Amino acid sequence: MRKFVIAGNWKMHKTLPQAVALASDMKEGLRTLEEIDIIICPPFIALDGVRDAVQGTKICIGAQNMHWEAEGAFTGEISPPMVQDLCTHVIIGHSERRSHFGEADTMVNRKVVAAIAHGLTPIVCVGETDDENRAGKTREVLDRQTTRALAGLSAQQAAAAIVAYEPVWAIGTGRAASPAEANETIGLVREVIGREFDAPTAAAIRILYGGSINPGVWPDIIAQPEVDGGLVGGASLFAEDFIALAVQTRAAYAASLRP
Ligand code: PGA
Repeated sequence: MRKFVIAGNWKMHKTLPQAVALASDMKEGLRTLEEIDIIICPPFIALDGVRDAVQGTKICIGAQNMHWEAEGAFTGEISPPMVQDLCTHVIIGHSERRSHFGEADTMVNRKVVAAIAHGLTPIVCVGETDDENRAGKTREVLDRQTTRALAGLSAQQAAAAIVAYEPVWAIGTGRAASPAEANETIGLVREVIGREFDAPTAAAIRILYGGSINPGVWPDIIAQPEVDGGLVGGASLFAEDFIALAVQTRAAYAASLRP
């Protein structure tokens, strides 16, 4: 059975004091939800502070990006050993990195490989743009992104990774995918993983949905059989909303375990 995940991507929001305050506000509400994986991804400068703020809970800390080299002359970048000191997870290939910072599939793959080599769980983002969706290219785009991102991994490594399907047209737009759309498309990504690796890997890997998740739409999406959790942007900046999403995720997980 795939353990459900709820991850909050704070993006470029919150100063260090604000981030610590937000994490502190979330801590009690999240503490008891130990059946699922809860991951908070604050900006780099707040990783240490947020980690301290949630100490004594099972809340995991994730980075939002990372360079693939262990060290070197890469001004402004953060290396895997730096992330590894503070985090268990790292988001790789978010569509904002792909579109604003030119991250192509090869770069995404290097980062995924580096994360695994340093004992970090990558949360690998894939997703089609609005234009690609309208042109009927969703399958082709997701096949390419998924195949290239996970290239060179063993089946065991792939099974332990997390993939997030985030349609670019749903990110920050208030227009979440419908539950059926999310289910169908995640099923497609799982199919690609089955083809590239094997059936047990496809059955084991957690695939999340992301894009305009909020507590109003989430119960119907997380109830879908292919959806193993969520990657939340905007709503993760509000303690009450993120806690509600985590509670809903745990309820769906419990329901999925019932025969
Ligand atoms: P959103 O962002 O929830 O604000 O749409 C999701 C994401 O980019 O991970």
